[in-house]
Amino acid sequence: MPTADPLNRLVVVQGDITHEMVDAIVNAANESLLGGGGVDGAIHRAAGPELLAECRQLGGCPTGQAKITRGYDLPAPWVIHTVGPVWQGGQHHEDELLSRCYRNSLTLAVEHGIRTLAFPAISAGVYGFPLERAAEIAIATVAATLDQTAANDTPTIAQVRFVCFSDRAYQVYQTALSEALDR
Ligand code: APR
Repeated sequence: MPTADPLNRLVVVQGDITHEMVDAIVNAANESLLGGGGVDGAIHRAAGPELLAECRQLGGCPTGQAKITRGYDLPAPWVIHTVGPVWQGGQHHEDELLSRCYRNSLTLAVEHGIRTLAFPAISAGVYGFPLERAAEIAIATVAATLDQTAANDTPTIAQVRFVCFSDRAYQVYQTALSEALDR
């Protein structure tokens, strides 16, 4: 079966990522992996204390990297924890580090046979990354990575969902995806 254009496997939705019925949800964590506020806090609350117990075994995670755990009480059986860059004005490799979060999360997903996954707007909250820029990087990186995995005949991912919590993020991500489709 010809692999659908990667962009056609991307979906922008509005909602709470902890409700997503996918194989894996991605957490916008910090380098300790010991929880926090925002989506990190929501995921830990929904998953229950076993998630933190497993995270404690992981020894943290450097910015741009990703690690995987079970989802416990979440509908999603897996959680991929990735650490986005703190926005410092754009001259500290923030774009590249954010892109690595998406690439490394997808690599882990493929390694674990994950076929559907959901991303939040990594770094676009507390970490202050400009939302439009974060959305463009997210969509461009995921589309390029899906294209590569299809080309290498590795098991491909069927769908990637960008789950936007706020109305504004939903609008921004929808615009970014439609612009990418028009290119
Ligand atoms: N579902 C989906 N998206 C959510 C949810 C949720 N339940 N809660 C928050 N978000 C959105 C925010 O609105 C924002 O658009 O996730 C995006 C990322 O925001 P943060 O959670 O603040 O993540 P980030 O900017 O990457 O900062 C990470 O915040 O919570 C701490 O421990 C975390 O130190 C780390 C830092």
